[in-house]
Amino acid sequence: MTTLTAGASRGSVQDAVQNAMRDSLPLTFAPMRANDVDEVARIEVDAYPFPWTRGNFFDSLASGYLAWVARDADARIAGYFLLMPAVDDMHLLNITVRPDLQGRGIGRRLLDEIGALTREAGIDAVLLEVRPSNAQALAVYRHVGFIQIGLRKNYYPAAGQAREDAIVMRLMLSDVPLAPPGHSPGARQS
Ligand SMILES: CC(C)(COP(=O)(O)OP(=O)(O)OC[C@H]1O[C@@H](n2cnc3c(N)ncnc32)[C@H](O)[C@@H]1OP(=O)(O)O)[C@@H](O)C(=O)NCCC(=O)NCCS
Repeated sequence: MTTLTAGASRGSVQDAVQNAMRDSLPLTFAPMRANDVDEVARIEVDAYPFPWTRGNFFDSLASGYLAWVARDADARIAGYFLLMPAVDDMHLLNITVRPDLQGRGIGRRLLDEIGALTREAGIDAVLLEVRPSNAQALAVYRHVGFIQIGLRKNYYPAAGQAREDAIVMRLMLSDVPLAPPGHSPGARQS
């Protein structure tokens, strides 16, 4: 399994302990199904001021995008992501961790899985848009190695009738080292 760890090596004892603690939160990855959408949409509403609608998720599934959920030990959805493959890059349309589980390494494991799926598709770059106001997501993306490559003006709806720009970021997987031995984001069901 690959990891989206950019920068310094993660071979230290501290990193090994951190990985072990994270992997103790069992996660099972499975493709998102239509009957997951209600649960996903409830998380979405809790996670975003401008959430995707159920229809957005159904449309994405109908379009054949790569959509995955990660379930916790109680089989509740802990996080999910949706990917749109293009010729040169994998477009990350949505990545969300259930709010009560954020900041515990699950986003990292979703990103690891995204990296693995992108490589399996023969694609070397992950592309995403993020709101400049979403400081936490921006910090996570920069931390794992995404860099800003553009700005889309007035891309997102915002409070009132306002619009917000989108920062366009890209991660080149060829710049990302392989996972340390024994690191695994979670079991994957087909
Ligand atoms: C953005 C989101 C997916 C991240 O998931 P998460 O589970 O909270 O993130 P993690 O705890 O796995 O952190 C991922 C990495 O970022 C690092 N990180 C987290 N916060 C950080 C910060 N403020 N500054 C720098 N690094 C940070 C973590 O240490 C971790 O790196 P490591 O594995 O090297 O330790 C999640 O917070 C979320 O769902 N947010 C709401 C929805 C959203 O905004 N989605 C993105 C839309 S573009």
